[in-house]
Amino acid sequence: MSPLPEDRDPSIAVTRPRPGHADLTGALKYDHADVRNVLERSSARETAVRVAVGAVARQVLAEFGIRVGGYVSGIGGVSVPIPLQPLDDLWLAAAGSELFCCDLSFDEPMKKAIDAAKLSGDTLGGVIEVQVTGCPPGLGSYTHWDRKLDARLAMALMSIQAIKGVEVGMGFGVAGLPGSRVHDEIFHDAARMKDGAVTAYFRQTNNAGGIEGGMTNGEPITVRAAMKPIPTLYRPLRSVDMSTHEPFEAAVERSDTCAVPAALVVGEAVVAIEILTAFLEKFGGDSLIEIRRNFLGYCQQIRHA
Ligand SMILES: Cc1cc2nc3c(=O)[nH]c(=O)nc-3n(C[C@H](O)[C@H](O)[C@H](O)COP(=O)(O)O)c2cc1C
Repeated sequence: MSPLPEDRDPSIAVTRPRPGHADLTGALKYDHADVRNVLERSSARETAVRVAVGAVARQVLAEFGIRVGGYVSGIGGVSVPIPLQPLDDLWLAAAGSELFCCDLSFDEPMKKAIDAAKLSGDTLGGVIEVQVTGCPPGLGSYTHWDRKLDARLAMALMSIQAIKGVEVGMGFGVAGLPGSRVHDEIFHDAARMKDGAVTAYFRQTNNAGGIEGGMTNGEPITVRAAMKPIPTLYRPLRSVDMSTHEPFEAAVERSDTCAVPAALVVGEAVVAIEILTAFLEKFGGDSLIEIRRNFLGYCQQIRHA
């Protein structure tokens, strides 16, 4: 990967691109003879810095009672049925699970699936779920297409390597149900304000995943993302050597069998960054004191709406 041509050793160049990776197209796009130039830059190691930024974002959000959490709900074919417990219980269970799974009884079957995949030189994907509680209604936008919060969360999650699908709330489930079973009816209870709620409006269901019209509606935000199986296989898939055009097995780089729990850490971070960005668009200031004043002013505004 040296920038100096005289330092480059063609005998150690990677020339057999891995299916499912950026290898082949990246090499074509930038005219690289060594696929290593692509694979090092496309690696999910890039997300380390996003996780670091996410940790700061979470701290700022916590100042305003906004919490971000999540869990793994599926690995390979092993899936936890839709968990119905309160989010705090699910987050607690995930914190006690080696795989960040929200139901400890699924830890062992998931681990067995990972071990079996590893033994056969294969890889596994899965599903991560991230939630945000405590958001006031009105983050995001219903007028600016590029400020719609559901779109931004989808972008943030899809930008994580190997994430291939994102659902907000009920997600794809909405397509097969009538509106009467999808939309969350609106209720009002002034007594909620005494318990610290920002608004007296509430829902008994949350199929929208806390976002309507591109804005938070005050209910918890719930998003789900599907991660594909890792593309580096120790029993490699068929590929072509880019220097000879002969068929070969793809190159093998040091690689994991399953990175779904790690993807959850990244998922929570990117969601935290996106929520804080939207929060600061609405309440931003040059100090926490100023931001808090803006936030409390808005809370006052919607208090009796
Ligand atoms: C946390 C995390 C860890 C990953 N680890 C690996 C790995 O060890 N080996 C690998 O081949 N891909 C790994 N990936 C996936 C690849 O980076 C990804 O599939 C590749 O860059 C191609 O991008 P795409 O799948 O989004 O199209 C990982 C992804 C994430 C989010």
